[in-house]
Amino acid sequence: MSTVTLIPGDGIGPEVSAATRRVVDALETDITWDVHDAGVIAIETHGTPLPPHVLDSIKANKVAIKGPVTTPVGTGFRSINVALRQDLDLFASVRPCKLYEGVPSRYDEVDIIVVRENTEDLYEGIEFEMGSAEIERLRGYLKYMHNFPIRKDAGVSVKPISVTATRDIVTFAFELATKHGRDKLTLGHKANIMKFSDGVWLETGQKTSTDYPDVEFDEMQVDEMAMYLAWIPRDLDIVVLPNLYGDIISDLCAGLVGGLGVAPGMNLGKEHAVFEPTHGSAPDIAGLGIANPIAMMLSATLMLRHLGLDEEAGRLEEAIAHVLKERKVVPADLHPDGEPATTEAITNAVIDAFNADS
Ligand code: NAI
Repeated sequence: MSTVTLIPGDGIGPEVSAATRRVVDALETDITWDVHDAGVIAIETHGTPLPPHVLDSIKANKVAIKGPVTTPVGTGFRSINVALRQDLDLFASVRPCKLYEGVPSRYDEVDIIVVRENTEDLYEGIEFEMGSAEIERLRGYLKYMHNFPIRKDAGVSVKPISVTATRDIVTFAFELATKHGRDKLTLGHKANIMKFSDGVWLETGQKTSTDYPDVEFDEMQVDEMAMYLAWIPRDLDIVVLPNLYGDIISDLCAGLVGGLGVAPGMNLGKEHAVFEPTHGSAPDIAGLGIANPIAMMLSATLMLRHLGLDEEAGRLEEAIAHVLKERKVVPADLHPDGEPATTEAITNAVIDAFNADS
């Protein structure tokens, strides 16, 4: 029996989480749910967006599925997504971007997995505020040691990229490619410009690739990668990127396959895994009953596979694909001009589809 921590989230989170729980329960797996609030709801009840018992639950269960949570602005609370990533050492973010038939897109075929390093790079938070005493010391040091001038009216963010973190994420990406029978891994970088950060990334990636002779390895400058993704996305298979480029390219890829409402995701560490849709809490449609639950349901298919429940994951994915292809119930975000199907109608259609298959 598997126990999974379920964090419904806020905004549309509780709606898409309830829908996802219904479809997983209808598969009659032996999963039990350990449900906990986090985010704005938990600030009201526990005074913090991420109460310690939520982390304890994920640490004990190893696997969590999470609805979106609103990041409170100006409250001084750390984003719970960042907190989960740091506290559980979730170093890999994975976004499968697959185009399902029936979903409006400019392309015929897209099936790309974006693997993003989650801990380093410009997102590590090493920042120097314009005009601060720290930046003055930094300016003085850089001028004296290296004759690098920094303008007085500049702010500075530092970009660390280590061999250790690069080796971990590239190894992870190759293992994923091997597990899923993928042929090619493309590493994105800008090592021609940032020789000492992206240079480490590229060199470590190339060295790591020699351990995986069965997967074709390719490297590409990230701007060129963006051009290929917009032009002939079927040429790319698995892509691995440092944090910042990975953030941008994964949203670009979500746009190739129909947008946020159908884009699942997962954050993985060596011990823990947190599955979640890519979209946010969508306050503009929260409570209206029209949120698209597909991204969270697809995240559940990733979770089921992670738990070794491949057959159930396959049934759920096929049922979702059937509903998308049939277009009898179409979520709001997939035809903005038509009558939006309710979250409940979409959920019922998915359950009907896999019951019909069984
Ligand atoms: P958002 O993804 O919540 O919404 C962007 C647009 O997409 C909105 O028009 C929304 O109605 C629509 N949309 C999103 N998901 C949808 C769905 N499942 N069905 C139908 N329409 C959907 O992004 P936004 O507005 O930038 O962020 C809102 C809040 O969510 C912020 O506080 C942000 O920090 C948070 N957020 C949380 C994330 C997480 O918990 N993983 C991820 C991204 C944002």
